[in-house]
Amino acid sequence: MQILVTGGAGYIGSHLVLALLRAGHDVRVLDDLRAGHAQALDRVAELAGRSAEFVRADVADVPRVVDALDGVHLVYHLAGSKAVGESMGFPERYFQNNLGGMAGLLTAMRQVGVDRIIFSSSAAVYGAEAEMPLSEGATHGPANPYALTKAQGEQMLAWMAERCGWSAVSLRYFNPVGADASGRIGECCAEPTNLVPRVLQALTGDIPHVAIFGEDYDTPDGTCLRDYIHISDLADAHLAALDALERPGHHIYNVGTGRPYSVREVIDGCSRVAGRPVPFVRGDRRPGDAPVAVADPRRFADDLGFRAERGLDQMLESAWRWVTENPRGYAG
Ligand code: UD1
Repeated sequence: MQILVTGGAGYIGSHLVLALLRAGHDVRVLDDLRAGHAQALDRVAELAGRSAEFVRADVADVPRVVDALDGVHLVYHLAGSKAVGESMGFPERYFQNNLGGMAGLLTAMRQVGVDRIIFSSSAAVYGAEAEMPLSEGATHGPANPYALTKAQGEQMLAWMAERCGWSAVSLRYFNPVGADASGRIGECCAEPTNLVPRVLQALTGDIPHVAIFGEDYDTPDGTCLRDYIHISDLADAHLAALDALERPGHHIYNVGTGRPYSVREVIDGCSRVAGRPVPFVRGDRRPGDAPVAVADPRRFADDLGFRAERGLDQMLESAWRWVTENPRGYAG
């Protein structure tokens, strides 16, 4: 089956492309390389023993996307911007990149008659007051422009399903962590803001220490709890989601493990894996952080048989291998 992956040269995209190639699919990647890396696709080809085709283009560029859809049966739409802090400073970038990108893609798909899509959404769509664990029906309340674009992207797909008979899936990712077991592909970002990349930077000396954002939450050790999922499990989840496309309509699934870990547990895990203590300081709470965010993963398990298999140690070991074996990311 010929598949188009937008954003396929990024962190999640490269792991997805590897999983799709290994499963025998033909893959074309559309990426403008704003955040992605062409070298990631070279390494994916080494690992899979075959290549994805690559088209360098913006997903909002309708004529280019129309060309890229030639012969395609379905689309994974991962291209987009994902930094919450940046979205607070530059909301219009998120409207342009994420909503404009989605509108361009849908226009091109309609033009050529491709009507099956799997969308990279986020647990960020849930409101701060939602009950834990988060089921797909929990209250919405996007707290920042990034989250709003994910919620609205889902709504666009709901309308395409309703009005045009499309099959669409929105996967609400929790916290993706780790790297392919080979250590050849991983997360490559100059100034990461997420917890695990920051902890690893503190371990390698790229930053003097990581700050723990609050130790006075109402949680067992006072630090926030999150649902971390191994990037390779997340990639596998995208393959499991294919079966949902057999049913018309818009289907929404949480992609998490249902097992939360605290910031302290993650830091301790990284110390264990690296064999030395993580330099950290106690910081203030980060505005907008929920004390707990954990998935109820049952719908995905019940409908499609998906269960994440890898635990926290595998996430952290693989992430550590990636940073130590690739100190300059894809540059060296
Ligand atoms: C964040 C976004 C979320 C987005 C996701 C994408 C916010 C509020 N949420 O999720 O919308 O979908 O990234 O990957 O930005 N922490 C520290 N020190 C650090 C960094 C993080 O203590 O230097 C803590 C945070 O307070 C949080 C936990 O680690 O409790 C995880 O943080 P992070 O990796 O940024 O993910 P989320 O906040 O869950």
